[in-house]
Amino acid sequence: MSTNEEPQKNENKITSEDTAESNLINAFENLKIDSTNENSPNENKIEPEEPLEAQPEPEPEISEEKFKEISQKKYEKFINLLKSNSFKKIVFMVGAGISTTSGIPDFRSKDGIFQKLKEKYKMERPEDVFELYKFYENPKFFNEFAREFLSKNYTPTKFHYFMSFLCHKNLVKYIFTQNIDCLEAKSIVDQQKVIYAHGNFLSAHCPRCKKDLDYYKFHNKFMKGTDVTCKKCNGPCKYNIVFYGEQLNKKYFSTHEDIKDADLAIICGTSLQVFPFSALPQEVGDECWRVVVDINKVRPNLFEYAEENSRDLYVGQKSDDFVDSVLKDCKWKFEFEKFVEDIKKKLGRHKYFR
Ligand code: OAD
Ligand code: ZN
Repeated sequence: MSTNEEPQKNENKITSEDTAESNLINAFENLKIDSTNENSPNENKIEPEEPLEAQPEPEPEISEEKFKEISQKKYEKFINLLKSNSFKKIVFMVGAGISTTSGIPDFRSKDGIFQKLKEKYKMERPEDVFELYKFYENPKFFNEFAREFLSKNYTPTKFHYFMSFLCHKNLVKYIFTQNIDCLEAKSIVDQQKVIYAHGNFLSAHCPRCKKDLDYYKFHNKFMKGTDVTCKKCNGPCKYNIVFYGEQLNKKYFSTHEDIKDADLAIICGTSLQVFPFSALPQEVGDECWRVVVDINKVRPNLFEYAEENSRDLYVGQKSDDFVDSVLKDCKWKFEFEKFVEDIKKKLGRHKYFR
């Protein structure tokens, strides 16, 4: 999807010197307080939604051709609003699909993480690797997964830099991510805006007695191959990745109701199969645009993609290709490339990301 490109101009260039570097230096510390929340309501423990097969797609009421025509018109409207900076409270809601071009498989695709775990451990239900009560029974499965994951040095994708770019334009309210890969930290300077709904690898605790751990001690031991146990209760310890059966973190609860006044939700690379994150797109106000970018038409029963006058737009592109289209159509390509170059230089100098 695209409109014709016009010559690049510098009019949208970010000129003010930002506080990128100092924010970044604080980023790691900010992330560490992103721990699980003992006091949040029980009904918000994360859990899988019904499997996809159980949610039949509604019968298409219009032809594919008509659908494309409607979507193209909406896309052009969306671009006009975006490039004129009319969206000022953008909320991103993202999942594993935004990181696949960095080499991290998503979870539920046919060659995704769940399939790989299923084959490796001959497991009936690979989600068990992220199930709290299973972790208590045998922490080996998750710990092996975590060690392998952490041994790779994944880098951000174009989509991550795009989120960062819009943050710098001061158009973003929040970025809700389900991803645990921390690529938002490697590409996004303003970490205050990021909600790691399913936690990340930058802090650790004992899930049984809720004791927070000294991260560096834990991490060093763990990466040397030790499955760390709690000194207090002897239970298995883990990074603050939110498992099925655990609460989401504090920041999620303090922000998710604050999206009612968002003017644009960009929902990208998530199958919306895990509650409560899957309910987030319903929490924005009725006037808020919802642009769903995914190679599959995600949860069509939750959106009105085919309605001519609805606020919902489905873009069936890969996340990075969507960014290419948007940059071209908003005439932001030159500015974006310069921005990414600068960010990479800053990150290169940062001690955590060398
Ligand atoms: P899924 O694997 O369920 O969904 C990934 C989505 O990304 C799918 O809809 C794909 O079609 C889409 N996709 C893949 N590659 C893409 C690309 N290049 N461009 C656009 N779309 C693409 O992953 P999530 O929805 O993130 O929990 O999964 C949610 C949670 O399930 C995860 O956070 C994880 C798991 O249990 C924890 O780790 C705690
Ligand atoms: Zn303990």
